[in-house]
Amino acid sequence: MIELRHLRRIYPGRPEVVALDSADLMISEGEWVSIVGPSGAGKSTLLNLIGLLDSPSSGSYLLEGVDVATLGHNRRAELRSEMFGFVFQAFHLVGSRTVVENVELGLVYAGVSRRDRRARAVEATASVGLAERVDARTPTLSGGEKQRVALARALATNARVLLCDEPTGNLDSETGAKVLAQVSKAHHRGMTVIMITHNHEVARLGDRIVHMRSGRIVEGGGS
Ligand SMILES: Nc1ncnc2c1ncn2[C@@H]1O[C@H](COP(=O)(O)OP(=O)(O)OP(=O)(O)O)[C@@H](O)[C@H]1O
Ligand SMILES: [Mg+2]
Repeated sequence: MIELRHLRRIYPGRPEVVALDSADLMISEGEWVSIVGPSGAGKSTLLNLIGLLDSPSSGSYLLEGVDVATLGHNRRAELRSEMFGFVFQAFHLVGSRTVVENVELGLVYAGVSRRDRRARAVEATASVGLAERVDARTPTLSGGEKQRVALARALATNARVLLCDEPTGNLDSETGAKVLAQVSKAHHRGMTVIMITHNHEVARLGDRIVHMRSGRIVEGGGS
C-alpha cells in the first residue's frame, strides 16, 4: 500500500538538516507498524511525508501504486483526507468549535450526510471516553483530551491509514490503554496503523517495529 524508495527530506538552512536519509519502507494494507527511535531521528518527518503533509527532497513515494509526486494539488488534498487520519502532537483542532463539532468536521470532508454526521461523531467521541465533554470548546480540554478528540475524528471518518505521533505520550496509563484499545479495534476492522512511540510496550502492539536513527531506517523497513 505504501512504498517509499530512497526517500530523503532535507530542511534547508545553515547548516541544512538531513531529517530523512534515503529511507526505504514498505507497508501493506492492514498492517500495524510501530516507529521507534531517539528524539530527532526523523520519525515525525517520515509520518508527515507518508500523510502527504510534506514533500520529499528526493526519492519516491508510491501510494497504492501511484507515484504521489505526479499528483496535482487538489488530488493530493483529496487523497490526504480520504486515506489518512491524523493523531498528532499538534492537534489541528478548531478552537471556536466544540468537541463533537470538531469530530463532525472530519465527516464533512469525508462526504457523510448531515443527518448521519452527528450520530457518528457522538459515538466516536464516546468511544475515546469523552462522552461528557462533547459540547466543550476544545481550548478548555487538556492535552490528552485534545489528542483523544483527534483520534475520535480519525476513527469516525473511517480513514484507511491511521497516523499516530505519540498518541499516548500525554496520557495516564488507564486513558492510554483506552485509546490503544480503540486503535486495536480499528486495526481489527482492517485499518492500517502507523504509530510513533517512545514506549516499548506500546511499540510491541504493532505487527512490526521500524527502528530509526539519525534520519535512517536502521531496522524493520521491510523489503
Ligand atoms: N521544519 C524544520 N526545519 C528544520 N529542521 C527541522 C524541521 N523539522 C524537523 N527538523 C529537524 O529534523 C530532524 C528530524 O526531526 P523530526 O521531527 O522528524 O524528529 P523526531 O524523530 O520526530 O523527534 P521527536 O521524537 O523529538 O519528536 C531533527 O534534527 C529536527 O531538528
Ligand atoms: Mg516527532
